[in-house]
Amino acid sequence: MSFLKKKLIQNGLIFKQSIKDSSTKKVADFYKESPFPNYKNDDNKDTILKKGEKNFLASRFKEFIGYKKKVLEVGCGTGQLSLYFAIGTNNHVVGLDATIESLELANDFANKNQIENINFVNADIFDDVLHKDYFDFIWCNGVLHHTKNPYDGFKILTKSLKNQGYILVGLYNRMGRVRTIIRKYIYKIFGIKILNFLDSTLKNLKHDEKEKKSWLRDQYHHPIESLHTIDEVLHWFSQNKIDFVNSIPSCTFEENSYKNFFIKKSSGNIFSRFLSQFNMIFNNLGSDGGLFVVIGRKNEH
Ligand SMILES: C[S@@+](CC[C@H](N)C(=O)[O-])C[C@H]1O[C@@H](n2cnc3c(N)ncnc32)[C@H](O)[C@@H]1O
Repeated sequence: MSFLKKKLIQNGLIFKQSIKDSSTKKVADFYKESPFPNYKNDDNKDTILKKGEKNFLASRFKEFIGYKKKVLEVGCGTGQLSLYFAIGTNNHVVGLDATIESLELANDFANKNQIENINFVNADIFDDVLHKDYFDFIWCNGVLHHTKNPYDGFKILTKSLKNQGYILVGLYNRMGRVRTIIRKYIYKIFGIKILNFLDSTLKNLKHDEKEKKSWLRDQYHHPIESLHTIDEVLHWFSQNKIDFVNSIPSCTFEENSYKNFFIKKSSGNIFSRFLSQFNMIFNNLGSDGGLFVVIGRKNEH
C-alpha cells in the first residue's frame, strides 16, 4: 500500500506488524481490556457523524480538510474519529494504533457500514512504518504522552507529513492536568464514589457503565503518562520545520475562535503562554483532563 513504506500483513482493512517494544506492549495490553473510546451497541454512520459534529475541533478540522486529501490519525483507538473524517468524503483516511483489539472494532464498524475510504495500521509509532511526505493532515490527540518518548514519536510522525501539510498534536498539560492529579490521589484514598462528584465527565457518563470504565482507566489507571507545555511543543516544531498555526488554549490573551482555528495566530510570549496554561486549572480544559492542542504546518523552505 502506498501509505506504507514496509510490506505489512493485511487482514480486511487492517495492515499489521507485530509490536515488539515492551512499553508499547504494556500500553496495548492496557487498552486491550477496555478499548477506547467505546462503541455503543446501536452505533451506526449517523451516530458517529453526530458524535463527530458535537466535537467542535474535530468538525472544524473535517471542514478544513476538504476533499481528495490524505489524512492520518495516530493513536486512533477504536477509530471513531477516523471514521468520522472518512464518512461522506472522498479523502483517504488511515488510522494507526498499537492495540489490535481496538482496530478490530474499527474494522468491523467500517465493514458493517460500508465505509471504504479508510484503512487501519496496527503498528508502533516508533517502528516508523509510514511513507515519507505522504499525508496532507495528521491528527494525533491524547497519544504521545502515553509513549516512552513523546518527542521521538513526534519526530517520526512529521516525516510522513507532506510539505505545507498540517499536524495537530494534543497532550496532557503540566499545569492543566493538576486537577486530575489531585483527583487521582483523592480517588486512591477515598475510592470511586467520591470521583462521581469530582469528575464531571464521569458524572455525565453515569448511565453508561462501559464508557465509564473506559474513561476511568484512561484517566486514572494508565501505566504510562507524561506532562508537557506549549513551549515544549513550540521547540519540537522549530526543530522539525513546522510553523506554529494555533493552539488551545491560545498562546495570547486573545479568545480563540474555533471558526478560524486553522488561520495562523501569534505564538505570544513566555508570559502570555504561562498565564494561558495556568488558567487551564480553573476552566473546562483543566476539569476535563488537562489536554492542550497545538497545530502546526510543515514548511521546508
Ligand atoms: C487515550 S487513547 C486515544 C484514542 C483517541 N486518539 C481518542 O482521543 O479518543 C491512546 C491510544 O494511543 C495508542 N498508542 C499508545 N502508544 C502507541 C504507540 N507507541 N504506537 C501506536 N499507538 C499507540 C493506544 O493503543 C490507544 O489506543
